[in-house]
Amino acid sequence: MQENLLEQIDLDNVPEHVAIILDGNGRWAKKRFFPRFKGHQEGMKRVVEIVEKSSDLGIKYLSVYAFSTENWKRPESEVSSLMDLLVYYVEIQLAKLKKNNVKVMTLGDLSIIPPKSKAAIEKACSDTKDNTGMVLNIAINYGGRSDIIHGVKGVVEDISNKKISIDDLTEISFKDYLYTSHQPDIDLLIRSGGEKRVSNFMLYQMAYAELYFTDCLWPDFKEDELYKAVLEYQNRNRRFGGV
Ligand code: IPE
Ligand code: IPE
Ligand code: MG
Repeated sequence: MQENLLEQIDLDNVPEHVAIILDGNGRWAKKRFFPRFKGHQEGMKRVVEIVEKSSDLGIKYLSVYAFSTENWKRPESEVSSLMDLLVYYVEIQLAKLKKNNVKVMTLGDLSIIPPKSKAAIEKACSDTKDNTGMVLNIAINYGGRSDIIHGVKGVVEDISNKKISIDDLTEISFKDYLYTSHQPDIDLLIRSGGEKRVSNFMLYQMAYAELYFTDCLWPDFKEDELYKAVLEYQNRNRRFGGV
């Protein structure tokens, strides 16, 4: 089955930038009478696999929503287990990411995440900064609105320092003030877990993204689910407002 799906993919037309809202870890665990933590643990394994398969497919940018600005509303124990898991995986996967030429970057305000998590993630970014393969954006304490506000502050600063004039600000130039500076817009947004919403992810960047929603819970999102999403993307007719 997997081989068949992979064979159907046109490798000359893979989305350049894929963003994933990985959702459904908690429900996956609940169905099995496991604590939510188990769902996050299993979900992290899928992240590792999907990163590798995306890079193999030739996807240039992969953005994964690991922790939103709204996720602080969760119980403290869940927040800290999510942060711990992130550190654990970033640390044990670093050698592989290096070997696979993946460049790790972050989206979001890391200033308020636990110092241990911040240090591990920053190390992954600096150790892979010269890699030339797929860019893996890990969105942590990220929100689409806060990304835009962060960008607006950058613009205001550059205008007050006379680095740019107000007329230099365009829909295109503004992109470089976002956390995804110098990266292309999202081509394909995938959300697992059945909800049909974007939950404050990459709002500016997804203006013309193809949206793909699946009921598959994230811990069940194996490589064939990725291939299904890419195949569906390849069957979409992107018009960008034209005819
Ligand atoms: C997504 O799974 C993981 C993160 C938010 C990091 P959830 O924890 O939201 O899972 P559900 O939606 O409760 O099933
Ligand atoms: C979106 O999932 C955030 C991440 C995947 C990090 P949520 O589970 O937090 O989103 P809602 O609450 O269903 O909108
Ligand atoms: Mg959820």
